[in-house]
Amino acid sequence: MAENAIRVEGLYKHFGEGDTLVRVIEGADFQVDKGELVALIAPSGAGKTTLLMMIGCVEEPTSGAIWLGEEKVYDNKWLTKETRRIRREKIGFIFQAHYLIPFLNVIENVTLVPQTNGVSEEEAHKEAMALLDYFDIADKAKSMPSSLSGGQNQRVAIARALANKPEIILADEPTAALDIKRSVDVVKMLKKIALDQKVAVIMVTHDEAMLPLCDRILKIENKKVVSVKDTKIM
Ligand SMILES: Nc1ncnc2c1ncn2[C@@H]1O[C@H](COP(=O)(O)OP(=O)(O)OP(=O)(O)O)[C@@H](O)[C@H]1O
Ligand SMILES: [Mg+2]
Repeated sequence: MAENAIRVEGLYKHFGEGDTLVRVIEGADFQVDKGELVALIAPSGAGKTTLLMMIGCVEEPTSGAIWLGEEKVYDNKWLTKETRRIRREKIGFIFQAHYLIPFLNVIENVTLVPQTNGVSEEEAHKEAMALLDYFDIADKAKSMPSSLSGGQNQRVAIARALANKPEIILADEPTAALDIKRSVDVVKMLKKIALDQKVAVIMVTHDEAMLPLCDRILKIENKKVVSVKDTKIM
């Protein structure tokens, strides 16, 4: 039996109230297993980013329940005051714009969070170099982000998201700024990470060419989330 990394039940998200009420998600139920790479698709404004941010304990849902691994983190309210800790320990975020810190070099960007979490400088450095090596970018360890290409920066951003050994990776259009070859590389890397490290990856994408590389598609449809198994028919 595959283990759930993420379980969502009866999730609702509204913004505003009265005249400004926006109903984004209305009763979403889905799971993502450890080791799965799942694409999340829907038209612009349908709530993809909002959904990722709720799973990532950044945006508070309106109601429902969320489990991350064994831990129930939300049940009509946050079940812990420590959403920051959960975020730090369990989640790796990757964004469309890579958001590397511009005044830190590559290795410093990758070691920042582990060191904030109390990992020693030496250990953080060793693991960061191993990750950069894995992503074939170790020779850029001392380079500044501004001197790297978009694809190289995105690989560093993925290395950084992994530096904390997250159980879950939430990637919001990670390939939007990349050409097709680089996009395929990034998605294949995410698949390899999912398999090798039993990480659950949800990747928002507008790029149909990426879908066959994913295990499954989650679609926001009628403000709910539906799961599509065959990624080739899209
Ligand atoms: N902080 C907020 N306050 C009010 N409305 C919001 C807020 N954040 C998002 N929304 C609304 O929620 C809906 C979903 O937005 P979201 O950014 O999740 O969409 P998306 O699917 O990620 O779109 P895109 O593909 O363009 O990135 C939109 O109608 C948006 O205007
Ligand atoms: Mg979005």
